[in-house]
Amino acid sequence: MKNTVATFQSMKEAGTKISMLTAYDYSTAKLEDEAGVNSILVGDSLGQVMLGYEDTLSVTMEDMIHHTAAVARGAKNALVVADMPFMSYEPSIEMAVINAGRLMKEGRANAVKLEGGVRVAEQIRAITQAGIPVCAHIGLTPQSVNAFGGFKVQGKSAAAAQSLVDDALAIQEAGAFAVVLECIPAKLAALISEKLTIPTIGIGAGAGCDGQVLVYQDMLALFSDFKPKFVKHFANLGPAMVQAFKDYDAEVKAGSFPAQEHTYKIDDEVIDKLY
Ligand code: KIV
Repeated sequence: MKNTVATFQSMKEAGTKISMLTAYDYSTAKLEDEAGVNSILVGDSLGQVMLGYEDTLSVTMEDMIHHTAAVARGAKNALVVADMPFMSYEPSIEMAVINAGRLMKEGRANAVKLEGGVRVAEQIRAITQAGIPVCAHIGLTPQSVNAFGGFKVQGKSAAAAQSLVDDALAIQEAGAFAVVLECIPAKLAALISEKLTIPTIGIGAGAGCDGQVLVYQDMLALFSDFKPKFVKHFANLGPAMVQAFKDYDAEVKAGSFPAQEHTYKIDDEVIDKLY
């Protein structure tokens, strides 16, 4: 059955944890959907894990629409959430609504996600009022990496923790259906999860959140540029892929691939007529 924002809300109310994973293409989305993951996030993390940028800042609306449309074609049951890229919603409320609309209309997303709390509450309100579900994202918001001075845990001081609580309440009041809490202390994430009536989805925020999200390349050990503390490898596919590529290279060079069973036949008479 298709997961919707209503499913998220009833899972929070029933105390059932929500699973979310990133995906950026049709085949991966199909596999995650088949596994029963509740939601697929087309994250702007695609800038790093798919496109090789050092951060998410260069990701464009066109990148997000292109990848969201591919994921939407593969996700039959998972709720597809598309990230709004850097500077696609900050400059004005009108721009935020137009770009959120493009992700729904051209990308066929089921919801959009944007980073920030109090400072983007009016954008969240306007997008929601346009009939587009919004997932917010606070804590370590990667689009603000330059303002943070690096990818660092957030909310450790009393003032920073209070401002995250204020952000979470403002997001909920503005109409968001969920909020991602990234890289904040587990006790703070648990407290925010208790205070909110909407679900929290944690990444590096402990088990007290209402759900969890991971970048799929991280959880499968497919991305080796860096490994945050919160990542668990559920499979070691990176080394398995390197070994398969080596085997292919060796078999091509040895002439043992392709074998008979990978080859199409033709009648000898047809070939003979060619000379
Ligand atoms: O872009 C992304 O993948 C994200 C997750 C890390 C939450 O925002």
